[in-house]
Amino acid sequence: MATTTKKAPAKKAAKPAAKVVAKAAAKPAAKNGVHKNGTHTNGAAKVAAKPAGKAAIPAKKGKGSFSEVPGKYCVRDIGLAEEGRKLIQWAESRMPVLMHIRDTYKKSQPLKGLRLAGSLHVTKETAVLVETFAALGAEVSWSGCNPLSTNDPVAAALAKGGISIFAWYGNHEDFYWCIERTIDLKPNLTLDDGCDLINTVHEKYADYARKEVIGGTEETTTGVQRLRARAAAGKLYYPVYAVNDAITKWDFDNVYGTGQSTLDGILRATSVMLAGKTFVVAGHGHCGQGVAKRAKGMGSNIIITEVKATSAIKGILEGYRVMSMDDAAKEGDIFCTATGVKDIIRKRHFLSMKDGAIVCNTGHYDAEINLEELASISKSKRTIRPNCEEYTLKNGNKIFVLAEGRLVNLAAAEGHPSEVMDMSFSNQLMCHLKLAEAYKAGKKLPNQVLDIDESQDEFIAETKLRTMGMSMDKLTKEQLSYINDYNAGT
Ligand SMILES: NC(=O)c1ccc[n+]([C@@H]2O[C@H](COP(=O)([O-])OP(=O)(O)OC[C@H]3O[C@@H](n4cnc5c(N)ncnc54)[C@H](O)[C@@H]3O)[C@@H](O)[C@H]2O)c1
Repeated sequence: MATTTKKAPAKKAAKPAAKVVAKAAAKPAAKNGVHKNGTHTNGAAKVAAKPAGKAAIPAKKGKGSFSEVPGKYCVRDIGLAEEGRKLIQWAESRMPVLMHIRDTYKKSQPLKGLRLAGSLHVTKETAVLVETFAALGAEVSWSGCNPLSTNDPVAAALAKGGISIFAWYGNHEDFYWCIERTIDLKPNLTLDDGCDLINTVHEKYADYARKEVIGGTEETTTGVQRLRARAAAGKLYYPVYAVNDAITKWDFDNVYGTGQSTLDGILRATSVMLAGKTFVVAGHGHCGQGVAKRAKGMGSNIIITEVKATSAIKGILEGYRVMSMDDAAKEGDIFCTATGVKDIIRKRHFLSMKDGAIVCNTGHYDAEINLEELASISKSKRTIRPNCEEYTLKNGNKIFVLAEGRLVNLAAAEGHPSEVMDMSFSNQLMCHLKLAEAYKAGKKLPNQVLDIDESQDEFIAETKLRTMGMSMDKLTKEQLSYINDYNAGT
């Protein structure tokens, strides 16, 4: 790894974000990172300084060297910024819809005066989104949403470009510390992938959430499920758009993005041949369908495990076998969980697996593979290649676990391709533009999980098609009236 710089001096930003961060950096950070400047005296500042009945925010525990400017950024190595900048430029060139929206709004600065905290995988594509928010006038602070998904060069490039960011690869100890640092910004918009930021704001700073936050967005299936549970319990204190559920997100990112990047992660971590292998996919929903399709395309024989009959039947009609995990465990060479549910693969499954089975997860949390139970039946464990751990069971069999059971596509590869994140992140941006517009017009949106309008999906899909150089047909007047004619028959 390149040499790291402790307490690197704040650099002048060259990007649109420069102004934003120069401002943020000028704010003195109080103890626990809570800003003391008089600009925003209510909300998080007060609440965070004295979290009712909670201990003060702990100090950062992470070991090793960091590049850190307190209150502004903490990344692994600011020296990686140039490498990260090239990755971001690569992504920009493949995200034409997002760049189009950036160009459309950068003059009018619709997010000016707003502060946005985000917790989402720090990839090159995320960086394009973050810099788009800044280019449209928002003050932004960012953290990762998974200990193993931050791309350190990209994080360094964002920090050097003037974004307030707290994220590094391998951040197991300070995951919530980083989220807390983004709350120091006293955000009035939040952007989540998995609800960890929303949960922190709601559970620790409830008053602030109720009074100061205009709204938020949620990127993933598991996060939206948590949000809906929170709303049903009457504990959602501001409106949140379910970005995951947009057609141009759920049916593309989760299916084609996860399909490709999950196989990419498995191959980078193992380099095994997929052709001829029995590949077990747990969960044949959006992500599982993508993984199964792509693994089939590489010559694997697919087995699906499911709890929902309709998803199971879809698997059968794709030509896969469907069975319980108890049965699949005996047959699989490679296992990939994609359910968003805990304990999909447990002790009894490990015990019946073949010697040399490979196990990984692409669901949001690392709860799908029960590694504690695996450890309890193992006599030793070693890292045999990057992101690949070999467990030797007491019965002598070996089981290989990829990326610590965390989402293998981000931990062992680079996450989804830019082309598909273009649509997901255009949804993110458009939702925040809507929240800002409603706020500036004095309109209060309900404290609910908000669905994405069909018109937003249509706009994003049409723009994407246009940038791909594709054309479409239009319904004629006659066709329209035919569709709506209840008398039209044979
Ligand atoms: N790796 C990534 O980059 C990435 C991208 C998008 C979503 N995700 C995450 O992937 C997970 C799945 O998302 P999705 O959009 O596919 O959700 P989905 O609801 O479309 O599909 C989940 C499927 O899992 C099935 N399932 C639930 N419990 C099961 C069990 N015990 N055994 C077998 N199957 C079971 C459900 O019936 C459903 O068909 C979520 O955690 C989501 O947040 C990850």
